[in-house]
Amino acid sequence: MKTQVAIIGGGPSGLLLSQLLNKAGVETVVLERSTRAHVLSRIRAGILEWGTVELLNEAGVGARMAQEGIPHDGCYLTDDELMVHIDFKELTGKQVMVYGQTEVTTDLYNAQDAIGTTVIHGVEDVSIHDLDQATSYVEFTHEGARKRLECLYVAGCDGFHGVSRRTIPEEKRSEFERVYPFGWLGILSETPPVHDELIYSNSRHGFALASMRNENLVRYYVQVPLSDKVEDWSDQRFWDEFSRRIPSDAAARLITGPSIEKSIAPLRSFVAEPLRWGNMFLVGDAAHIVPPTGAKGLNLAASDVYYLYKALIDAVKGGSKTGIDEYSARALERIWKAMRFSWQMTTMLHRFDGEDAFAEQMRKATLTHLATSETARRDLAENYIGLPF
Ligand code: APR
Repeated sequence: MKTQVAIIGGGPSGLLLSQLLNKAGVETVVLERSTRAHVLSRIRAGILEWGTVELLNEAGVGARMAQEGIPHDGCYLTDDELMVHIDFKELTGKQVMVYGQTEVTTDLYNAQDAIGTTVIHGVEDVSIHDLDQATSYVEFTHEGARKRLECLYVAGCDGFHGVSRRTIPEEKRSEFERVYPFGWLGILSETPPVHDELIYSNSRHGFALASMRNENLVRYYVQVPLSDKVEDWSDQRFWDEFSRRIPSDAAARLITGPSIEKSIAPLRSFVAEPLRWGNMFLVGDAAHIVPPTGAKGLNLAASDVYYLYKALIDAVKGGSKTGIDEYSARALERIWKAMRFSWQMTTMLHRFDGEDAFAEQMRKATLTHLATSETARRDLAENYIGLPF
């Protein structure tokens, strides 16, 4: 089997890259370990930067998002005393879009079907070879047989636990990591949102986030110790804890209902460098992880894809290698800025076990500063709506 770009991983990064490349006449084969149903069942991000929205439109998958997505003009940050509105629209002229990752992935799979691209599910034992040669190849097992896929380039879109990053020799890789000492317990519930914009709450009982997926589907979170298990949290316990962590007027309006999904995610910041190794490029979670505070994970995957798809089209069709030569540095510059923002939001909004009184004062001062300085709010808004590609 032969293709121009072999894409390892059929999550949002791999599918969006495949979609944009195929639209431009560059052939791809996507190799995905799981079934399509499994990929589509993973509940993840839900806030799209406007640059991501535009890239999805460019990929030809924006129609349902335009109908069903909910543009948001701002969000709220609060502790028990102060409530600060960050008005993205007024401060930056831009909005974000509430549209779940599962919806984005569904639209991408449908679009891939419509143009007839090759997505192979259920591949095992992927290995990547000859990255320093003119032609590289990927080996994998599918339906019991070992197969070989020859290609010009490999895109490693296989998430944090994938094989692509580990194909770069350890001594040639730098990894930067910060693990936070808590997780987020998240639930999905078919109830109307408690507020029409997101509320990030740093209460004295710990962090909570009131987010949403649509008019009748909420995604709510509370900060929990890493030792907690999902089984420790009945729906009732979740609702009790969530309502004491959000502002009292919001809590008074809160409509509760059964959870249809409940999970605990650890919080981590992680970056691997470089993003290029010979003919292979790392994209999305394969190269970096952000804590969810600030909603940058899916959006960073989109900006990586933006830099890489143009570079690959040039390299495959036009013969110019400048884009692929510059990919790692260009993408990393934006990645580090999003890392900084996510880390800052996480530090500002969570209580850390064993922290001193100084840490609490710093959080308070940050919120007061945001309340009183338009410059500070604009800086936050600019990062939240997404830095330019
Ligand atoms: N071979 C083939 N496929 C693999 C392999 C492998 N060895 N390892 C992992 N995969 C697949 C996974 O099954 C998954 O479908 O690669 C895909 C990676 O998808 P994601 O983990 O969703 O990563 P990505 O596509 O980069 O999506 C961006 O950023 O913060 C997050 O919520 C955001 O999940 C989103 C991500």
